[in-house]
Amino acid sequence: MIDLADIPWETSSHYEYSIQTDYSKQKQIKEQAYRMMDKLEGWCSRTKAMVLMDIIFNHRPKVVVEVGVYGGKSLIPVAYALKSLGEGIVYGIDPWKITDSVVGFDGANYDWWGMLDHEMIYKGFIKKVREFQLGQYVKVIRSTSAEAPPIYDIDLIHIDGNHSEDSAYFDVQKWVPLVRDGGIIIFDDVDWATTRNAVSWLDEHCYRVTTFQGDNVWGLWIKK
Ligand SMILES: C[S@@+](CC[C@H](N)C(=O)[O-])C[C@H]1O[C@@H](n2cnc3c(N)ncnc32)[C@H](O)[C@@H]1O
Repeated sequence: MIDLADIPWETSSHYEYSIQTDYSKQKQIKEQAYRMMDKLEGWCSRTKAMVLMDIIFNHRPKVVVEVGVYGGKSLIPVAYALKSLGEGIVYGIDPWKITDSVVGFDGANYDWWGMLDHEMIYKGFIKKVREFQLGQYVKVIRSTSAEAPPIYDIDLIHIDGNHSEDSAYFDVQKWVPLVRDGGIIIFDDVDWATTRNAVSWLDEHCYRVTTFQGDNVWGLWIKK
């Protein structure tokens, strides 16, 4: 017969932790974040935001980085999840500048980014950070990925900047080495011809956990 006194205390401690996790609170935070997303410019799907927020709830990252912020549709839910935990910071790197957005593109992509009012998107994002009272959890770095200062010991990174071949490859090579071992990398649009080299590099240097297929295709890796 098992003597309960022989069971190490960690077992009951872990059990208590699991039953005390308040999933209904996490659900409320996600629903509020989705309502915020409806007011934001960008492409992040609710599924992607949900995965980002679940990672935050479960791993409690201190250092989060996003390359390519646009109107904050993926960064704001991240910042809101951090705020709900009362810790962590998300660095948003984006130049919000036509000449950087069109690099490496021609045709429809060049025309679309070339016509975009980047200043309006930037100002709209900053306004929403203030309106949602997330300033304490967001650090904006208005520069290209290449010009941004290094950020060390990254726990979670979302790479969604310029999708041209050279820029995507540059972004993984610059930022993934700054992710801590075991840290999480989310990379957008893994099925684009222009991201092929970046994805191969990620597969070589990290473990690919899964690939999500929704409005677009994005992948999740763990740093080796
Ligand atoms: C696809 S959008 C980001 C979308 C956003 N993450 C979302 O989910 O809604 C790409 C962003 O990358 C930015 N960008 C362009 N060139 C860049 C560069 N060299 N470094 C960092 N960001 C860049 C653009 O200004 C644009 O806002």
